[in-house]
Amino acid sequence: SEKIPCQVFRLAREASHYVASEIAAFIRQRSDEAKMCVLGLATGSTPVSVYNELVRLHREEGLSFKNVITFNLDEYFPMQPNELQSYVRFMNEHLFDHIDIERGNIHIPDGTLAEEDVPEFCQRYEEQIAEVGGIDIQLLGIGRTGHIGFNEPGSGRNSRTRMITLDRVTRGDAASDFFGEEYVPRRAITMGVGTIAGAAQIYLLAFGEGKAQVVAQSVEGPITPNIPATYLQEHPNTRFVLDEAAAENLA
Ligand code: F6R
Repeated sequence: SEKIPCQVFRLAREASHYVASEIAAFIRQRSDEAKMCVLGLATGSTPVSVYNELVRLHREEGLSFKNVITFNLDEYFPMQPNELQSYVRFMNEHLFDHIDIERGNIHIPDGTLAEEDVPEFCQRYEEQIAEVGGIDIQLLGIGRTGHIGFNEPGSGRNSRTRMITLDRVTRGDAASDFFGEEYVPRRAITMGVGTIAGAAQIYLLAFGEGKAQVVAQSVEGPITPNIPATYLQEHPNTRFVLDEAAAENLA
């Protein structure tokens, strides 16, 4: 009954090392061809150990990111880059400050814009992805609402980069990061479901029992806008990479 291939590892760390090694192999292959490589990146707790391993591969095994271009999925709105919960800050601390990527090759939705400038920024973000030939490898986490990026329930399969309103469940899950739910921003800028589906290869990572139910619904359930991750069933090259706890409810 699995409509999306799942790869299950005993531990989250093992799953993360696997994904990091897949990414590293692709970066090296592109480098040998003297070509750029475009990565779509996620934040949150799930991908941290993938980034740790990529940093280790850079430091200890000579993996270079000179040929890498990145696009992050999302950012809270409003959000200043130096704030504690900023995804700019997150990416710098967990990855970009520790590797040799060109700063000009990094793209993250801008939480500092005036609201009226957001639509044009989002359109430009889409154009920038298209101009580099699309995303080669997209990393995803999954929210308990079934969101990918911040595409909350109700998001359309053809949605593009835009401003969204965060779901109550998502704001509750972020409450501890913001020292109280009332301080969690109500909105965010996110790549759309259609933007994500444009990636050649997608790895969705999910760890821990808290994700078991939404993982099973996404992999085995009917495709529905109520669980945006179910749209990934239509993508030809998506894999879920899970630890045993997150895989627990699979048939
Ligand atoms: C973050 C993102 C979100 C998270 C999801 C899971 O850039 O796009 O979809 O991947 O909310 O978050 P964690 O990993 O903290 O459970």
